[in-house]
Amino acid sequence: MQEKTALLFRTDFEKDIFNGLTDYPKHLPSKYFYDSNGDKLFQEIMAMPEYYLTGSEFNILTNFKEQIADLCYKENKPFNLIELGAGDGKKTKILLEHLSNSNIPFKYHPIDISQNALDQLELSLKMEMPKVSVQKVQGTYFEGLKKIDTISNKKIILFLGSNIGNMEHKNAIDFLSSIRQYMNADDLLLVGFDLKKNPQTILDAYNDPTGVTAAFNKNILTRINNTLHGNFNLDTFKHWETYDPQTGTAKSYLVSTIEQVVTIEELELEITFKAWETIHTEISQKYDKHTIHWIADNAELSVETEFGDDKNYYKNYIFKKK
Ligand code: AVJ
Repeated sequence: MQEKTALLFRTDFEKDIFNGLTDYPKHLPSKYFYDSNGDKLFQEIMAMPEYYLTGSEFNILTNFKEQIADLCYKENKPFNLIELGAGDGKKTKILLEHLSNSNIPFKYHPIDISQNALDQLELSLKMEMPKVSVQKVQGTYFEGLKKIDTISNKKIILFLGSNIGNMEHKNAIDFLSSIRQYMNADDLLLVGFDLKKNPQTILDAYNDPTGVTAAFNKNILTRINNTLHGNFNLDTFKHWETYDPQTGTAKSYLVSTIEQVVTIEELELEITFKAWETIHTEISQKYDKHTIHWIADNAELSVETEFGDDKNYYKNYIFKKK
């Protein structure tokens, strides 16, 4: 039997991979998609026509940047724009540019786990919008929020891209409640939610014909191979997407096409796969109005307002403390 106690793991990555692959049914956390190779693949996904989420949020920010700016900037008071998981800031730049062009005083605090992403973002902003004052924060969302917590000005916290969709409802509620702890009465939280729509449109977004999403999903196996000396043969795993139009949950799987044994040296682990056995890797939740209000309510947030895109695919909600 494979037995290993938590103390023997050198990193959370080791622990999470071990626990996920020795569980039944097998699963792995989607947050491990994002190493430098995964970041690149995700950028490719965002540029694909099938991955409508990017265009929808771009559309919203373009159409409603004035309204959003009006909510941020009240009584000539400077504010802090904090972004959780800023990445390349592509969509945020629409808002930043508008604020900058309107000579609105604010400070931009992109929080990201990747120092490299932050450095590149800062550099590009320096060239494209030299007036914008940027204070980057490297770390997890909550490490970042803790560091910024000392500032007294009004805070606007951005959580774009339907990243919340990677969380089951209970976790989404806990997550939003935790963010709420860092908010004062007039602070705002802007969250992007991907909406329920034609199920085919959703399946196509996670099942592109060129296989970029498949490569992204399999990147977690590549990462195990590279960092933990695993011997996953990627060709024996098939990317599989499901969407349940009732619950709004899209799920990604890696399915072993053959019976096989995989070894992960660093974990002293041998994992057996039956033919067609699954590893569940990601959920991408789709929402309706009722569910978003239910989540907000449970997180003790109230809906200040909401902005939708032209196709009704996606919504940005603005929350306040209840
Ligand atoms: C970055 C979590 C919003 O779930 O839609 C894209 C990640 N996965 N294609 C999503 C993803 C497969 C994406 N999020």
